[in-house]
Amino acid sequence: MAIKKVAVIGAGLMGTGITQVIAGAGFPVIWQDVSVQQLENGMDRIEKVLSKQVSKQKIDNNHKVKTLSNISITQELKAVSDVDLLIEAIPEDINLKQTIFSQVSKLVQPNCILVTNTSGLSITAIAAVTTCPQKVIGAHFFYPAPLMGLVEIIPGLATSKETVEEIGQFIKDIGKTPVHCYDYPGFIVNRLLIPLVNEAIFMVMEGNAPETVDAAMRLGANHPMGPIALADYVGLDTLLATMEGLYTGFKDPKYRPCPLLVKKVEAGHLGRKSGQGFYQYDTNGN
Ligand code: 3HC
Repeated sequence: MAIKKVAVIGAGLMGTGITQVIAGAGFPVIWQDVSVQQLENGMDRIEKVLSKQVSKQKIDNNHKVKTLSNISITQELKAVSDVDLLIEAIPEDINLKQTIFSQVSKLVQPNCILVTNTSGLSITAIAAVTTCPQKVIGAHFFYPAPLMGLVEIIPGLATSKETVEEIGQFIKDIGKTPVHCYDYPGFIVNRLLIPLVNEAIFMVMEGNAPETVDAAMRLGANHPMGPIALADYVGLDTLLATMEGLYTGFKDPKYRPCPLLVKKVEAGHLGRKSGQGFYQYDTNGN
């Protein structure tokens, strides 16, 4: 089946980047969120990034106009009824995701592929609440989606071979590289990367300055940004949810979230998106 029309559910950081990538690759996208404000903020973000790319002559103005015109925003979940592929990018809460999947599986046409962009929750458990578990699969994008080359593809226990092949081809069509992972918490990247970031936060809790930990990893391990800066960049709430997913999924104390990370989230200090995390940010997130 050729994928022609796509829906993205969720207008947070990930939903925005994924929408930009797919619309930029030439696919019409229905972009749904319960909050119109979130959708409008997301459209503003995409418009700003594309305008900057035009001014730097990385893309031409036609490409910008075409990308933006490929996106239709809506609050209505039923607007997804005629898409070939639906990608969910809502917060990392299994109950929330299961509720959405149970609803959309009754709205979409039988051939529609249902994708979750979970950071590490069970694809099998999400698929199990739908009417079409063979069409449900994980496709995990990385932040910031327009700049990151990888997408992890994660079949659940009931996902069909055709669904795996179709989504793998689609990921290539939008210019990304798919890797296939098994359906265990954190898949590949987050299982390795997020405990590293969590451990860095333990070091800050023990008295190290965030700047010191970051400089050490940038200069000593050639990481493009230090782990504390990365924590603020992806959002401390997302990070905590991912750590908790590893901890409850494996029941192994080595994945316990750092208490300082928990405190920061309790305080609403979520990183760049809230203006404060381990560092302070201005309204542009700088
Ligand atoms: N679309 C297109 N271009 C964009 C963009 C977007 N949304 N956002 C930024 N850009 C552009 C910038 O404007 C800039 O353009 P310019 O060179 O013309 O000025 C260009 O991209 C590069 O931006 P930066 O100067 O900020 O680039 P850096 O060289 O500092 O690289 C980075 C930025 C790619 C984010 C790099 O620091 C990096 O790779 N960091 C690590 C990111 C990472 O580890 N991500 C994974 C997080 S974990 C995750 O996502 C999993 C989840 O489940 C938790």
